[in-house]
Amino acid sequence: MITEEQVLEALKSIEDPDLNKSVTETGGVRSVRIKNGNVSVKIALARTGTPEQMKVQQDVVKLLKDAGAESVGLRFEALEEEEIEKHGGGSSAAASASLLSKDNKAEFIAVTSGKGGVGKSTVSVNLAVALARAGKKVGIIDADIYGFSVPDMMGIDTRPKVENDRIFPVERFGVKVMSMGFFVEDNAPVIWRGPMLGKMLNNFFNEVEWGELDYIVLDLPPGTGDVALDIHTMLPECKEIVVTTPHATAAFVAARAGAMAIRTHHEILGIVENMAYFESKVTGEKEYVFGEGGGERLKDELKTEVLGRIPLGQPTENKNVFAPSVYEEEHQIGGIYKDMAQRVVEKIGK
Ligand SMILES: Nc1ncnc2c1ncn2[C@@H]1O[C@H](COP(=O)(O)OP(=O)(O)OP(=O)(O)O)[C@@H](O)[C@H]1O
Ligand SMILES: [Mg+2]
Repeated sequence: MITEEQVLEALKSIEDPDLNKSVTETGGVRSVRIKNGNVSVKIALARTGTPEQMKVQQDVVKLLKDAGAESVGLRFEALEEEEIEKHGGGSSAAASASLLSKDNKAEFIAVTSGKGGVGKSTVSVNLAVALARAGKKVGIIDADIYGFSVPDMMGIDTRPKVENDRIFPVERFGVKVMSMGFFVEDNAPVIWRGPMLGKMLNNFFNEVEWGELDYIVLDLPPGTGDVALDIHTMLPECKEIVVTTPHATAAFVAARAGAMAIRTHHEILGIVENMAYFESKVTGEKEYVFGEGGGERLKDELKTEVLGRIPLGQPTENKNVFAPSVYEEEHQIGGIYKDMAQRVVEKIGK
């Protein structure tokens, strides 16, 4: 006669289709009753009433019958919201589309630096746009929850659409964009801390309808604080680009951001040396206004390559397309970003 132990043992191999964990791990086995070899089980899943639930149902019945059950009675209910979150899912409807799920095929590229103001956001935005121009499906997450700047830089004045608890990112220049800036009224300061920060990022990963993507660029806040750490732990497969200015001390500080990446086993794709020089339009002469050699030094220290050196320069003003920080494809700096995107694609091989 089948025992409760045998039932539980058999259920170990049943996975919650949304959480990719066994129902015994998620606490989804709500009750097991056995009477004269007839087994009835109640199972909670992240989502019920789905085609996947039918599959689970068939699998459970088969497994329990194989284990010796005379008959199998099965009931389903939904896991609590907190349980779903605890096991890495978003809201119940979201779990299957999460960027953090095993099925996600998008490559994460975090753009980081030790110091503020060296051009992370500018690099993130232009790399994302250049990847999209190369025909890739690209998203960008403005992970700078306090200092969000991506919507402004890309000239976005619309907000994400929300339908049935799902958030649809705003698309601009072929890039899907998500930022805290979309959810803040009138540039009010954001005063969340610690756990809330992680939660917000989690929402960006779990509750946003990203669709199919090749690359997700993450614009990180400066330094090696909470968010950087969260990203490192949340996204074990994340690749990183370290931005520095050519100044020796900037490179020195950037090395710390790089060291954090290495410690958490994130692969460093390379260095971007931003504001590398000023080139005179008149004489073509280069002046190294912020010093020289920072990128080179950082490259040696982190044992990686310099993906690009970007001179000082503003995008050409365009009255029809307002996007203050996006360089046109034909712009000299736009060209540098194009090469950089190509190198990134080569390196990641996607
Ligand atoms: N190559 C460049 N030439 C001229 N200006 C630039 C260049 N790169 C960045 N900037 C300008 O420098 C300022 C800082 O850039 P950005 O906001 O991208 O830096 P950041 O590292 O993201 O800053 P924060 O640490 O505050 O997030 C912006 O005003 C940006 O337009
Ligand atoms: Mg920034």
